[in-house]
Amino acid sequence: MSSFSMHTHTCGELRTSDLGKEVTLTGWVGRRRDHGGLIFIDLRDREGLTQVSFDPDISGGEAFRTAEKVRTEWPLKVVGVVRQRPDANPNLPTGEIEVLASEVEVLNTSKTTPFQIEDHVDISEDIRLRYRYLDLRRPSMMANMRLRSDFTFALREALHARAFMEVETPALFKSTPEGARDFIVPSRLQPGNFYALPQSPQLLKQLLMVGGVERYYQVAKCFRDEDLRADRQPEFTQVDIEMSFVEQDDVMGALEETLADAFSKVGVDMPLPLRRLSYREAMDTYGTDKPDTRYGMELHDVTELFANSSFKVFATAAQTEGHVIKCINAKGAGTWSRGKIDKLSKVAATFGAKGLAWVAFRADGTVNSPIAKFFGEEEMAALREACAVEPGDLLLFAAGSWQLTCEILGGMRVHMAKALELPLEGHDFLWVVDFPLVHWDEDRKAYAAEHQPFTQPEEADLDRLESDPLSVGSHTYDFVMDGYEAGGGGMRIHNAELQMRILKLLGFTEERAREQFGFLMDALEYGAPPMGGFALGLDRVCMLLAGCDSIRDVMAFPKTTNGNDLMSDAPSAVSDQQLKEVGLRLS
Ligand code: AMO
Ligand code: AMP
Repeated sequence: MSSFSMHTHTCGELRTSDLGKEVTLTGWVGRRRDHGGLIFIDLRDREGLTQVSFDPDISGGEAFRTAEKVRTEWPLKVVGVVRQRPDANPNLPTGEIEVLASEVEVLNTSKTTPFQIEDHVDISEDIRLRYRYLDLRRPSMMANMRLRSDFTFALREALHARAFMEVETPALFKSTPEGARDFIVPSRLQPGNFYALPQSPQLLKQLLMVGGVERYYQVAKCFRDEDLRADRQPEFTQVDIEMSFVEQDDVMGALEETLADAFSKVGVDMPLPLRRLSYREAMDTYGTDKPDTRYGMELHDVTELFANSSFKVFATAAQTEGHVIKCINAKGAGTWSRGKIDKLSKVAATFGAKGLAWVAFRADGTVNSPIAKFFGEEEMAALREACAVEPGDLLLFAAGSWQLTCEILGGMRVHMAKALELPLEGHDFLWVVDFPLVHWDEDRKAYAAEHQPFTQPEEADLDRLESDPLSVGSHTYDFVMDGYEAGGGGMRIHNAELQMRILKLLGFTEERAREQFGFLMDALEYGAPPMGGFALGLDRVCMLLAGCDSIRDVMAFPKTTNGNDLMSDAPSAVSDQQLKEVGLRLS
C-alpha cells in the first residue's frame, strides 16, 4: 500500500514489534552524536523522533560518510533496518528501537537555525514569530496545531451530526458592529467606497435564517481593529452558529450537547447540564461576568454590617443608594507583611479603586489593619462570622457603587488566586445568562448594546425600553471556560419595528439606521423566523485546552500586540500605483 509519501513509517511510529523490518524514514536532523566509530542522529518529523545509527561497516560506509557531513535541521531520507536499542530511552515512545541506516539521502541543507528546535528554548517570542516556520517544528507547537485541528474537526462533526449546515459568508462586506473598529478595504471599481471586513458574520447568519437555512455554522475568520492582548488578535476564528424556529433553551441545549461532544473527542469531560449563573449573581458572587469557579474566594456583601460605622468611607457607602461594601477573604495572605499588603492597593487602582481597605488576621491571633481601629467589638465579631475568618486570613474591602465595587474585588480575586498559587484542577465550564440589554457609555454619552444591537430584549421589560433602558433584560448567554469568555450569543430580534426601536435607543437616527441596517430590516419584513445563536472563540478555547497563556500559541501565524506580522513585515507600504488604483492619497 502506498502511503503517498517518500517514507514507509513516520518518526513516531516504530516499536519493538517492528524489529527486523526494513523501513524508510524522512525528517529533520535533531541532535547528532558522533561516538568515534558510530554516529547517532535523532530524526524528527511532526509525529516524533527516532534514533538512526550509522555504522562505517555497513553498505560500504557510504551512508556513514554522509552522516559525518549532515548538520542540524537538514532534511533526510533514511533507509535501514529496525533493531533493538541497547540503551533504551524510556522518555521516548520509540525509545526501545533504532534504525540502523543502510542508505541516506540528503534532501536539502539548512543554515544554522536561530534557535534550537526543542520544547524548552529560552528565546524571545519575537524571534519565534520572525521564524515561525521553525518554531512550528518544535514538538509543543506542533502538538498545539494538532489539538486545534482535532478539536475543530470534532466540532464540525458534532454540528454536522445535529443537522447544521456549513455556509461560507463573504469577508468583503459592510460594517457589522460588534463593538470594535472595522478594518476597511478600499474599492477599486468604486473609488471612494469601502468594504469592511466582518467583525463577525452576525448579520449574514441572521439573513441565512431568513433564507431558510435553519441550522447554520461556519468556522469563520473575524476581524476587529482593537487593542490587542494575550487573548485578543486582530483576526481570530469563531465557530459561528445560528438556529431558527427555536427558543432560548433549545439553542442552549443544542450548544451544550455539541460542545460536550466535541470536548470529549479531545479527552475533556464537560458534565451536563452546565451551571447557569445570571449576570447579576455572577457579578455579586465573583465580581465578574466570566468567573473561574475552580476556587472560592467569593465576594461577601457586608454593607448592612457597617450601616453606622465610624469609618467614614464605609458609613458613606452604606448610606448611599446603590452603593455597597464588599470584601473577599484571601486565605493565607493574612501572614503577608504590611508592605506587601499595602502594595495591593496599586493593583486595585488598575481596576478603578480609589482605595483598598484591609484587615489581616495574623497567625498568632492578633489583628493588623489600618482601619480596624474604627471597628467596634460587635462589628468585628459580625465581620469574622460573615467571612468565616480564621487565623492567616486577609480581608480586602471595596466600597462604592455596586458595579465598580464588584469589578474591583473581581479583579482582586483573580490577582490573589494567582499570587497565592491556588491549585486549578481540570476545566471549569458554565453559562452566564440574562445580561442587561444596554449599558451607559460615558465616553460616547449614549446607551450601548451589552452584547450587540440585534439582541432580543426581555419581552416583559419592553414597556420600559425608552423610560428605563438600564433595567431591561435580554436573551443572552456567555459560555465561560476557566475564567475566560470563551463564547457568547443570544436570541435575535426578528421584528423590523422592534429592531428600529432598539437602534434609536442606541442613538441612531432613523436615517442612519436605514443607511447602515436597511438591508437587515428589509429582510426582517419578509417572514423572518424566531432565531438565536452563538459564537465560540476557537482560539481562546484551544489556548485553554493546550494550557497556554496566550492565543498566539495556538495560532500558526499570529500578530504581535502591535499588530505586526514579524515574518512578512505586514502591515507595510503599498506602491503609489496601488493607491492610485483605489483612488487614495496618503496625507
Ligand atoms: P462576541 O463578540 O462575544 O460575539 O465574540 C464571540 C467570541 O469570540 C471570541 N473573541 C475573540 N477571540 C480572539 N480575539 C478577539 N479579538 C476576539 N473577540 C472575540 C471570544 C468571544 O466570546 N456575533 C456574536 C456572537 C453571537 O451573538 O452569535 C459575536 O461575535 O471568545
Ligand atoms: P482614607 O480614610 O481615605 O485614608 O482611607 C483609609 C483606608 O481605606 C485606606 O486603606 C484606603 O485604601 C481605604 N479606602 C479608601 N477608600 C476606599 C474605598 N472606596 N473602598 C475601600 N477602601 C477604601
